[in-house]
Amino acid sequence: MDELYLKDIPVKEMIRAAMEARKKAYAPYSHYQVGAALLTRELRIYTGCNIENAAYGPSICAERTAIVKAVSEGWRKWKAIAIVGGPLGEEISQYAFPCGVCRQVMQEFADPDEFVVIVAKSQEDYKINRLKDLLPEGFGPENVAGSSEGRN
Ligand code: THU
Repeated sequence: MDELYLKDIPVKEMIRAAMEARKKAYAPYSHYQVGAALLTRELRIYTGCNIENAAYGPSICAERTAIVKAVSEGWRKWKAIAIVGGPLGEEISQYAFPCGVCRQVMQEFADPDEFVVIVAKSQEDYKINRLKDLLPEGFGPENVAGSSEGRN
């Protein structure tokens, strides 16, 4: 993706924020810690970490933690999200792509053609993706009759 497309997206700052958020991860079961930083259209950054649960099912991913924080405070329009993840106590050696559930939750509010998903190992080593490429032919609010509120 070209630099023009990344205009207005502070990639390195977002990765740094995601790394800070990752330090807060509560992952005593998987020991896999994830941090995310969501950039709103207004250039606010909301961060999140994964929060696991003894009953497993109630666990939430870092991306959705950041998303629910932003939406619950009224920020539904976003430009990008940065994600970092890896096993506790190790250097980050892989890109942590968002799980399918998180991709679907992004689809609810973000324009898949525009929304940028940054997966990073460091502030210098990252990959830029668009949601439409991570969730091709995605199902969204426009597919449900009478419900197009998500992107409005
Ligand atoms: N996890 C995330 O936080 N984001 C993802 O997109 C994938 C997985 C978390 C969930 C769980 O706490 C741990 O990583 C291992 O799956």
